[in-house]
Amino acid sequence: MSLAASHLDSVEATDDRDFNFTARDFDRVRSLIHAKAGIALSESKRDMVYSRLGRRLRALSLDSFKTYLDQLEARNDADEWQAFTNALTTNLTSFFREAHHFEVLAELLKARGRQTPIKIWCAAASTGEEPYSLAITAAEALDSLTPSVKILATDIDTQVLETAQAGVYPEERVDKLDDAQKRRFFRRGAGANAGRVRVIDELREMISFRPLNLLDARYPMRGPFDAIFCRNVMIYFDKPTQRDILGKIAPLLSPDGLFFAGHSESFFHATDIVTSIGRTVYRRTAR
Ligand SMILES: C[S@@+](CC[C@H](N)C(=O)[O-])C[C@H]1O[C@@H](n2cnc3c(N)ncnc32)[C@H](O)[C@@H]1O
Repeated sequence: MSLAASHLDSVEATDDRDFNFTARDFDRVRSLIHAKAGIALSESKRDMVYSRLGRRLRALSLDSFKTYLDQLEARNDADEWQAFTNALTTNLTSFFREAHHFEVLAELLKARGRQTPIKIWCAAASTGEEPYSLAITAAEALDSLTPSVKILATDIDTQVLETAQAGVYPEERVDKLDDAQKRRFFRRGAGANAGRVRVIDELREMISFRPLNLLDARYPMRGPFDAIFCRNVMIYFDKPTQRDILGKIAPLLSPDGLFFAGHSESFFHATDIVTSIGRTVYRRTAR
């Protein structure tokens, strides 16, 4: 676990117990978010759930988790379901996380050349650092701020998508990028925006941000994609769910397209769907 995450957990664990939160409430939350988003919350997430959903209870002036969960299920209000889901996702990400993937992508882009339109899907885009890293890789590999590359960035969490779309980050988020990248792809904020950077418009225009739940029975987008990044989200799902999702993603990949997974994700239970070709990089399995 990262320092930031463990700090967050300890802060959340010391939260004052304003609301009645029973073992039964926690089990209900776990089964609801599992059914909704596929996310399997372990026992250790009890304090996290209390802290994050406690904010919803406060906002709605409710005094018990039971009342909140009863209302959530009885009213079936899409906005509250979205707020419930947003509260329970984990959105940890960074620019050029798992950097070796971007080197592999750069090779693929150079091999395709500047004239060929290229489509990339980022299937768990979080706050946007991953899709912007894809756009920077495309601009650098094809030596153009307006390459013939379209990136679709999706996530179940509508709140992180808003951050992603804005493309504004605290300066520390881009610390690890080299100076040339910072100068070429970001603008420093001034006045009220001092200490922040904004991604340049050309990169933002390469990307379309859309909500999508990977659990949905059908995906609305049209392939084929030359590359699909689906990183550090499958870890939240059980193996049958992973297989189900891979079965929907693989047909959207071009026959020689690449599927990128997170560092702790492996699909040995789905070799009939995707075939490993290197460090957490896969192709569609030939039929
Ligand atoms: C840990 S972040 C990973 C972000 C990025 N892919 C990376 O590797 O840095 C996981 C993301 O998956 C999203 N997510 C969780 N369940 C999802 C689902 N059922 N459908 C789509 N996205 C989901 C979360 O909202 C979160 O933004």
